[in-house]
Amino acid sequence: MSEWNTVRLELEDDVATLTVDRPDRLNALNVETLHALREAIAEAEAEDARALVLTGAGETAFIAGADIGHMRDLSTAEAQEYAELGHEVADALESFPAPVIAAINGYAFGGGCEFALACDLRVASENAVLGQTEIDLGIIPGWGGTQRLSRIVGDERARRLVFFGERVDAQDAHEMGLVGEVVAHDNLEERVSRMASDLAERPAFAMRAAKEALNQVHEEPQSAGLTYERRLWSSLFGTHDQREGMAAFLEERDAEFE
Ligand code: COA
Repeated sequence: MSEWNTVRLELEDDVATLTVDRPDRLNALNVETLHALREAIAEAEAEDARALVLTGAGETAFIAGADIGHMRDLSTAEAQEYAELGHEVADALESFPAPVIAAINGYAFGGGCEFALACDLRVASENAVLGQTEIDLGIIPGWGGTQRLSRIVGDERARRLVFFGERVDAQDAHEMGLVGEVVAHDNLEERVSRMASDLAERPAFAMRAAKEALNQVHEEPQSAGLTYERRLWSSLFGTHDQREGMAAFLEERDAEFE
């Protein structure tokens, strides 16, 4: 397993846990950290992780956003490069061939919120605070937030979050669908770990296909997505897991998935 200064990757029982480890900067994402994240996600994929968890080190922050110190004096061309790098990481989370859970253990602002949006599922500690706060810095969300936020919380809600730079606590975030679940701070790790293990035990090909098909809804007009779903669905027939899952149901026993 490779090592990075500001990112930790642990793999246990098919679950990869990726921790942004820059607690003195509230896990803000500088260039080094983005490169490390990109490499670590690729490594988790190469290791065939069947679930991936993204979280932040320390007690206060998930990820407090892009690194403001780094951004302050960027030229347009340099900002474009930084945006590309952030997008690459968000895209890698979104297209990771297994479910990705954001374990939001504290502040998730700007790019931190955007990375959470690129995950499949979001579980927040009751201490978490989320927001697309870029407007207060004279910029806008630049790592996918303008596109991913509205499909998760709806158009008007997204506009309010982005226009006002609203910071919302975990409970409000849950009510608007920005996170799927809120748990006591001390239970976050255990809850997410249980969820990840549960996902990792499910039939891998079907999980991958389910994620790919669900992602399509954002890529294409609905008609193309429906066609894509049909194709993926039928392609699972004949796999071990499909035959076994259906046989087990009919024989009233537990399935033994690959
Ligand atoms: N980029 C760079 N450094 C950051 C950072 C960021 N996004 N967020 C926090 N830090 C740094 C602070 O500058 C501070 O550094 P210092 O110890 O050298 O002074 C350190 O992390 C701790 O943060 P601090 O602001 O002292 O903690 P706090 O508990 O008072 O406040 C926040 C926490 C998250 C409310 C506050 O840090 C904040 O608003 N951060 C910016 C969030 C943001 O706008 N993100 C979007 C970026 S696009």
